Amino acid sequence: MIIAKDQVFMLNTNSTSYMFKIDEHGLLLHLYYGASLCDFSLSEQLSQGDQLEELAKALERKSEFAPGNSINYTDGQFSLENTNLEISGIGKGSLVTPYINLVFPDGSNSTDFIFKDYKTYDRLFIPKDSSFGKMAHSHNSGNQKEDVSSLVIRLKDRHKPIFIDLYYIVYKDSDCIVRYSKIYNKSEKPVILKSLMSTQLSLSADTFKHGKVKVSTFGGAWIREMYKNDTILSSGKLISASNTGTSSNRSNPLILVSDYDTCQDSGKCYGFNLMYSGNHYESVEFSTYKDIVVSSGINPDSFEFNLEAGASFESPEAIMTFSNQGYNSLSHNFHNFVREHVINPTFAHKTRPILVNSWEACYFNINHMRLLNLARNAKAVGAELFVMDDGWFSNRDDDTSSLGDWEVNKKKLPFGLEGLAKGIHDLGLDFGIWIEPEMISQKSKLYQAHPDWAMAIKGRDHSSGRNQMMLDLCNPEVVDYLIETFSQLLSTPGINYVKWDMNRIMSDIYSPYLAKKYPDQRISSMVPHLYVMGLYRLASSLTQAFPKILFEGCAAGGNRFDLGMLTFFPQIWASDNTDAIARCHIQEGLSYGYPLSSYTAHVSSCPNHQTLRNVPLKTRFNVADFANMGLEINVSDSNSEEFKTIRTEVEYYKKFRDLVLDGDFYRIDQNELVSGNDSDQSGYLHRWQLVSKDKLRSMALIVQEEVRPNTPNLSLKLTGLEPSYLYHVENMDEKYNIKNFGDLINTQVPVHIKKDSLIHNAISRFVTMPGEVESFNLYGHFLNTASIRLKEAYIATGYNDQVRYFQDYSSRLYEITKKG
Ligand code: GLA
Repeated sequence: MIIAKDQVFMLNTNSTSYMFKIDEHGLLLHLYYGASLCDFSLSEQLSQGDQLEELAKALERKSEFAPGNSINYTDGQFSLENTNLEISGIGKGSLVTPYINLVFPDGSNSTDFIFKDYKTYDRLFIPKDSSFGKMAHSHNSGNQKEDVSSLVIRLKDRHKPIFIDLYYIVYKDSDCIVRYSKIYNKSEKPVILKSLMSTQLSLSADTFKHGKVKVSTFGGAWIREMYKNDTILSSGKLISASNTGTSSNRSNPLILVSDYDTCQDSGKCYGFNLMYSGNHYESVEFSTYKDIVVSSGINPDSFEFNLEAGASFESPEAIMTFSNQGYNSLSHNFHNFVREHVINPTFAHKTRPILVNSWEACYFNINHMRLLNLARNAKAVGAELFVMDDGWFSNRDDDTSSLGDWEVNKKKLPFGLEGLAKGIHDLGLDFGIWIEPEMISQKSKLYQAHPDWAMAIKGRDHSSGRNQMMLDLCNPEVVDYLIETFSQLLSTPGINYVKWDMNRIMSDIYSPYLAKKYPDQRISSMVPHLYVMGLYRLASSLTQAFPKILFEGCAAGGNRFDLGMLTFFPQIWASDNTDAIARCHIQEGLSYGYPLSSYTAHVSSCPNHQTLRNVPLKTRFNVADFANMGLEINVSDSNSEEFKTIRTEVEYYKKFRDLVLDGDFYRIDQNELVSGNDSDQSGYLHRWQLVSKDKLRSMALIVQEEVRPNTPNLSLKLTGLEPSYLYHVENMDEKYNIKNFGDLINTQVPVHIKKDSLIHNAISRFVTMPGEVESFNLYGHFLNTASIRLKEAYIATGYNDQVRYFQDYSSRLYEITKKG
């Protein structure tokens, strides 16, 4: 709901308010963003009386005189250095990251954007000529249930006919506000656009406790995506940005800004995410007067655009949310927003199939018979979709060739894609394939025919990544060609799913096409953005042409996990790392901004292919339970015991995967400040809980990374349950292999048994060790408030069925169900 009165604007969601005003100079002054200032019963008074103005007067920065050595704003006595602005510029006294940075034909870069007019809409308003309109916005309107309103503020430079429209879209139920902007050059000469952010928030110094903020960023590297990094800032500036050409695994566009002591279930926190798949930039900085300024948008370091006379440029959408009840509540806002307004509504609430993917089972070594055999076993363990990964086309026997030549390899698949699809369907499974449309191998027919379609600089050696080059998606002819090629490929009968991969980052950033078109311009600064726009056209055409196909995004795992890609692909392969312990960090990191149904997790074999770590199968499943589950393990090679366990676990997942799709996810009691292995009390624990929206069912997981000696005590902490419901809490009854206890067996048997001897192995086939069982019937009120003390852990002095076997990488899954 938007209230606009006497030059004061108040944007209200259910639990938050955002306020700014226009001052007598026409400047947009930020007043407030945080917990709601408008309980909805007050909205009448606010929009009719003088309360809104009075509130604005109370909230605005009081500055009469500019401090010495600062700059007076144009005709005023005050300084922009000490003003909270909705958008900052260059040259007029503001010293924070510029929201807008442009260079005029005379080489100057001072701008002074002031208010012109505004419009409000009690619906989602999308400008007709929106560059991103065809992607996100078309889905944004998907959920008709939510109250969405829009505000457009038009600004004009004080001296030049350059206009900026600032967009604010208010999502009432999800408690999210979206911002972006569009600049119009209505002058007769071109200007150079060096930066146009999507959002900027200038929060007054007293917003956070003790003048400190905790900035959480999410990133890492390939197979180490989305590790959460917390930095406490009390001065200076922190930047989280990507320059890989993708949103990147090095640094995700999601950031959180909170009080230094905010935890999962208490405290103030702001979240920002950018709906963009290319180079992004987020900064959090302290102004001279200790205000906290957050900016988010396209990374200006790799961006420059010639804005011709009459041209316009639109920045991507930035999503902001706030909670004063900790990170879980902030994540719920993001999750609801992404489910209702980002993910294609056809899939948003549709059960995702459990898949078996051929990659780690076969790598490039695939053929019709081997795949069918794997699929048969996939069916037998309860999977629903079989995915043929890389290696099925042209001469693709390793990663050195063939990208671009998307014809089936008849030696491997003599019956073609159609024949394989039929074989898989006959087994009762859906069928999916792997593609990497944006790439070209030098060893390919496509490269021979169109060397100028590759992103490379003439006369320079090309630095390749994974032996491949990127196609020049800035060239519309290339995008058209790809649309046609893949439209034909995906028309093959029987394709239900597509894994869309992208395995390298940009190098030798150039576009032979743009170089020809704009001979005097800095092509390398246009390519990263225009590549993304080409990609969006490609992804949007193909996903619209094949609305029934489930697309899964992938970029060497999570190198392009962002809201932009999620508008096309309802789910994304979170990481090439299938190690369950690494996955705890990766999935937990993702969960701060993205719903569980947007990422996939596969159970693979051990030692794990990425870390060589051995993690119990049970833990591998437990972790994959909290995402869209798949299997990468070669089920054709599984022994009967493993096969049986896999079948049981897959069945078990089916029972509650609706919680993954639509439930509320909680991270429980993560010690935010002293996280890591710095306590001698317990090895690092991951505690997760999912609660169904109707609160009838819940699942809770505890994973231990490293056992600490003599730490017997652990509690099951739960949250989010309905206080008045009586719940039954229990864990799955488990048996442990006696060999897990090594030669301790000799403390229990009369004859000496040599470890790993034939007799030891034989005994282990018949004798198992009992696991502890927890079983309680308790009201939600108790469970939400107190916690259950679990049976003691093994501490080296005895073991029976009242002791929890809880070693390195052990985990427990607890089921919580309403009784009656
Ligand atoms: C990337 C993906 C993997 C697999 C391979 C195939 O690394 O992330 O899952 O598809 O490519 O080449």
